Amino acid sequence: EKERTLAIVKPDGVSGNYTSSIRKIILESGFSIQREFTVHLDEDGVRRFYAEHSTKSFFPSLTKYMTSGPVLIMILQKVNAVADWRALIGPTDARKAKMTHPNSIRAMCGEDLERNCVHGSDSVESAAREISFFFKEAFPEGTTLEH
Ligand code: CMP
Repeated sequence: EKERTLAIVKPDGVSGNYTSSIRKIILESGFSIQREFTVHLDEDGVRRFYAEHSTKSFFPSLTKYMTSGPVLIMILQKVNAVADWRALIGPTDARKAKMTHPNSIRAMCGEDLERNCVHGSDSVESAAREISFFFKEAFPEGTTLEH
């Protein structure tokens, strides 16, 4: 059974010109990219997307990072998409990724625990919530998006 997950190329990934390498890895790994768009999130968007982190001490810094430039939002589809995309991006801490998962996407373009260049939904339930956040709730039909 095919599954969908939400991938984000974060501001450091976009500004570092990693988008085309990341897209190539995605397609070569057997995912199809169902939908994608670029958007520059504002503070409110970050707060609503990362609601579960909004009380954490790193949240102000995460907000500053995630609003620092445009991000690329993608819906990826394949069998086992959620776990396979998480495996492909590697550990949250890009510093650790460089040591333990040198072929991962975060090892390639991330920097540390915060600036880790990509996001992946952590469960099928999160994927459903995150996909509807970007493709229904936050940006209903007719919304004009930056490309
Ligand atoms: P992500 O997988 O998108 O989920 C939440 C993000 O918050 C995470 O990637 C990092 O960018 C950031 N993050 C998670 N934990 C920390 C932390 N302890 N300190 C700073 N940033 C963090």
